Parts: sequence; C-alpha cells; structure tokens
Amino acid sequence: MSINWFPGHMVKARKEISENIKLVDIIIEIVDARAPMSTRNPELEKLFAQKPVLVVLNKMDLVDANDVKAWIKRINREKAAAVAVNALNRQGFQAVMREIEKLYKPAAEAMLERGWRVRPPRVMVVGIPNVGKSTFLNSVVGRKSAKTGPQPGVTRGKQWVRVEGKIDFLDTPGLMWPKVDSPEQGLKLASLALVGEKAYNSTEVAYYIVRTTLEQSPGTIETRYKVDSLEGLNEEQVFEKIALRKGFIDGESPDLQRAVNDVITEYRKGHLLKIALDRPDML
Ligand code: G4P
Repeated sequence: MSINWFPGHMVKARKEISENIKLVDIIIEIVDARAPMSTRNPELEKLFAQKPVLVVLNKMDLVDANDVKAWIKRINREKAAAVAVNALNRQGFQAVMREIEKLYKPAAEAMLERGWRVRPPRVMVVGIPNVGKSTFLNSVVGRKSAKTGPQPGVTRGKQWVRVEGKIDFLDTPGLMWPKVDSPEQGLKLASLALVGEKAYNSTEVAYYIVRTTLEQSPGTIETRYKVDSLEGLNEEQVFEKIALRKGFIDGESPDLQRAVNDVITEYRKGHLLKIALDRPDML
C-alpha cells in the first residue's frame, strides 16, 4: 500500500485516532520487530493521553530472537508493556491477551470498588501502514468472535468485535503516517516495504541492505547467493557478482537492476540479514 501523506490526510488521521482513543481502555500500537523505533510515529504517544499502551512487535518471524528480547526489555524499561507476535500464525497472541488483562486490571478493580459490573476492556489497534495491523486484527478476531454492535455510550457506526468472550476490539485499525527524521530511517522503512515504491530509489535501498548485512552479519550474502568472499568489494561489484551468479544478464553485461530487486525481495522475506535494523542499544 502506498499512501501520500498530505497535510490534510495527517489532520484527518490524527483527528480520527484521537476520537477513537476516547472510546477505548487500551491501545495496541503495532510496530515492525525489525525496526521498533523507526516504525513508531512519535506523535502517537501524545494522542494516547493517559491510556495504557501495549506495544506489539509484529513480524517476529523475520528477526533474530535475541534482538526481539532485547527490544522488549528496553520498551519495558521505558515503562510500556511489549509483546512480540507473528500475526500470520498467531504466535504470541496468548501473551497479548494476558497483557491486555493486566493493563485493564486497575480499571476493572475501580469498577468493582464502586459496585459496578466489570465490562470487557475496549481495545484499538494503531500503527503506520504495512506493519501488519489488518493481519493482526483479522487473526485476533478469528472465528471465535462475535460482532457486538453499537454499545450504550459508544458512538454509533463503530463496530466492536468481542474476542474470546472477554475483550472488545474496535474492528478498524487506526492508521498513522511514518515520521521520517533522517535519511537512514527512510532507508530502513523502504527496506521493510513500509513506504510506497515511488518514495525511494531501489538501488540506494539495496545498497543499504548489502552494506548493513556485510557489516552486521558477515558471510550471510555469500552463503545465500553461493558466491566467494565479498570482502573488499564496493557495492557495485557486489551486485555484479550477484547478477552473474543468478544469471541476470542484460545483453553482454550483468543486469544490476535485477540483482537490486532480488536483494530487496530476499531481505523482505527474511532470507538475508535477520538482525534488527534498529539496534536495541541505539539512542
Ligand atoms: P497494515 O494493515 O498495517 O497496512 O498491514 P497488513 O496487515 O496489510 O500487512 C502488510 C504485510 O505484512 C502483508 O504482506 C502481510 O501478510 C505481512 N505480515 C503481517 N504480519 C506479518 C507477520 O507477522 N510476519 C510476516 N512475515 N509477515 C506479516 P503483503 O506482502 O503486503 O501481502 P500478502 O502477500 O501477505 O498478501
């Protein structure tokens, strides 16, 4: 999905989310486990007001488990709850449900103290495009859920879905735009397919992926492409080798664009660098 974030769209997105936030008890912010910091929109935090937030690191299948653990620790240190999931196969979902119940406990206890009936917590999912919001919501909602329809005191037209009989999810996710603060962050988002194709130069992105992989995970590219050591080669020479190995030839010369596209695809499928692009110890 490619979205052009014109100021008008941003104002609308912000307004919609801040209105929906008033209706919920807990916010699930979905980020990409390969870049948990670069895939957050810092403005979201301001919109959350005082509501409890659960940060869900999605696509955990595409990243090294130690990096995921380190990121969860770091987010916990910053006083937010965090869980890693794979929205495609529901891995981590039970932990999400447990965290929601934990975050809701103070509100539930307050209701009990007043002698009120404890209603199920209301939850909404937010995040930037392509982090997996819809996949997550579809998987979480799954078969065992029931649409609950409008509820008293809740804006008409909002659809809630009761999950496992105990948690109400707002059925549409809140969409935020990515906030890009540096060229490197832009390269990360492009590498992860989180910005539209037109927004980046594929050669620059593939060079970034290769550079980072050579630095952070030596030997990975050589193994994946079955080429000799790439040490000491510049990026263009690396892509020439990959093109020749894969048989990407344009006339007489290696077809570098096909090699560029191949590296990007391989990276996005998790076949190259597995470590997170945002390092857990980054500032
Ligand atoms: P969005 O609502 O936040 O915009 O994201 P969406 O759910 O559309 O997911 C974006 C892409 O990420 C989809 O791939 C989806 O399959 C993939 N995805 C979501 N969660 C996970 C996950 O936990 N692991 C992995 N590996 N991928 C995940 P796509 O290529 O755009 O579509 P499709 O080819 O899967 O149909």
